Amino acid sequence: CGIIGYIGERKACNVLVDGLKRLEYRGYDSVGIVTEEDGKLYIRKGAGKIDELKEKLGLLEMPGKRGIGHTRWATHGIPNDINAHPHTDCTGKIAVVHNGIIENYIELKDELLRKGHKFKSDTDTEIIAHLIEDALKDFNNFEDALRYALLRLKGSFALGIIYTHDREHLYFVRNESPLVLGIGHGEMFAASDIPAFLPYTNKAVFLDDGEYAVVTKDSFVVKDLKTGQVKEKKVHEINWTLEMAEKQGYEHFMLKEIHEQPKAVKEAIYGNLGMIDKIAREIANYEKIYIVAMGTSYHAALVGKYIFQRLVKKVPVVEDASEFRYEFEDLIDRDTLVIAITQSGETADTLAAIKLAKKKGAKVLSIVNVVGSMATRLSDLVLYTHAGPEIGVAATKTYTTQLTVISMLAIALAKYLNTADREYLQKIEAELYDMPKYIEAALGYENKIKNLAERLKEKRDFFYIGRGISLATALEGALKLKEISYIHAEGLSAGELKHGPLALIEEDVPVVAIAPSGKTLEKMISNIQEAKARGALIISLGDSEELRKVSDILIKMPKVDEVLSPIVYIVPLQLLAYHLSVLRGNDPDKPRNLAKSVTVE
Ligand code: G6P
Repeated sequence: CGIIGYIGERKACNVLVDGLKRLEYRGYDSVGIVTEEDGKLYIRKGAGKIDELKEKLGLLEMPGKRGIGHTRWATHGIPNDINAHPHTDCTGKIAVVHNGIIENYIELKDELLRKGHKFKSDTDTEIIAHLIEDALKDFNNFEDALRYALLRLKGSFALGIIYTHDREHLYFVRNESPLVLGIGHGEMFAASDIPAFLPYTNKAVFLDDGEYAVVTKDSFVVKDLKTGQVKEKKVHEINWTLEMAEKQGYEHFMLKEIHEQPKAVKEAIYGNLGMIDKIAREIANYEKIYIVAMGTSYHAALVGKYIFQRLVKKVPVVEDASEFRYEFEDLIDRDTLVIAITQSGETADTLAAIKLAKKKGAKVLSIVNVVGSMATRLSDLVLYTHAGPEIGVAATKTYTTQLTVISMLAIALAKYLNTADREYLQKIEAELYDMPKYIEAALGYENKIKNLAERLKEKRDFFYIGRGISLATALEGALKLKEISYIHAEGLSAGELKHGPLALIEEDVPVVAIAPSGKTLEKMISNIQEAKARGALIISLGDSEELRKVSDILIKMPKVDEVLSPIVYIVPLQLLAYHLSVLRGNDPDKPRNLAKSVTVE
């Protein structure tokens, strides 16, 4: 989501609409603005893109010189007019826009409902306005009430808050979700990201986690949320072009999205904590399980199959959604569970598979990134990946978050059905929570991988090999490479190598071996030796010393349990594909012939 705030001498709505347009890459399913004049709030909001709503809602005809705006990427509640931000309290005097997730919102909402608060939307955001309203009963000062209310929130949030009775101020808060102040002359801005105010000022103050800002048109003060103490803040001069800034300094969206994975995976975990056990219970009795998906999501399905086998002791059939509807029609019945994995929730093949499953009476659970997309509307149950908008065509953070969600689901099922050792489940659950840290470590190899890409940029063929759960990583690594670098790449099971593809291995052909410690490491090492004996250039990903001896290049990975290894092992392969694409002069964000979302069968 994107937040923008303005207070000064200009017509606020003009600045807000302009800023929202430049934040649209952060989310684009609904838009809203609140302005204030003469102690009255004016709110206009709705589902849709800003260009469509500008005219329809008259966003440029709102009075006032102070206001906040929001462009939404739905997390709680489908994108519709009611769920669009800003949200208000019962009195309509406090309006809030929010970016992030409030993890304890259900508990807070219950408490507020008991106190008689009435809610209009399904969002977690609305409770914030009501919490402040409630606190105002005990505090005379708005700022004190605000602090008291905000300290009760758990989760990630960036907030913009406006209160009718406090006419000189706007309030902004940051906790694990970005927020920057823009310092002008006789006017102040705040936004989720610098490009929103870059046409007006290049002076920026970055809020840190647990800080809030009280802003007037001529001044700002930043304070610690817990203690209320004033913090010294540095004013930074930004020398970014608008285009660069939208990518937050990254050359491409894909690179930015690769680097967002620690945060995305964290959001996927916390965003699903409240749901996962309930969903696991609802699907626990199904024995006939199909997992359907396309492209990168199909590789997430393959990982899902292995985790289900290992932890839940059930064998799901994984099928490419475009095949499923023709080959499985007679096999689906009321006792069937279909798990559909789709980032966009709009892929035509996957939607067709879901529709067929529904028609045959099966239960459908989808794992989706885009809230309110078609897949979510067609399914009985939904788990969201909470990755935020992904703009690069090649899926990266949506993949690692899909893996996170399917792993959480398998762990929850295994606990409920008692199909795996308790202690082991606890160990991998703890490792999953630490996954953002492991991904961060893998991102630390970027320079090494960039140098490797330099060495490999003229190669014509790549082979990616893996066994067991790592076969999915091999397939996804190869897909990333072919999609954006246009180099021929094949992913295959390491055992298959000697049954045909070995004929293609000659001097210096790169073979990328995905070899975490686990059941098959020893066999994997033999397969690597087979390729090495034919002159292959062996690039290995693994955590063991044995692997070093048989590799020309070893990317030493953090030690994680094999069942979770796909989440971290794909990261260097995404970086390798990215750098090879750039070195070969391609645009990795917009690969030829491909689309982000394929809405035809
Ligand atoms: C397209 C995209 C892929 C994506 C696939 C499935 O082919 O280019 O990156 O993996 O669709 O998309 P979905 O939205 O269903 O995950």
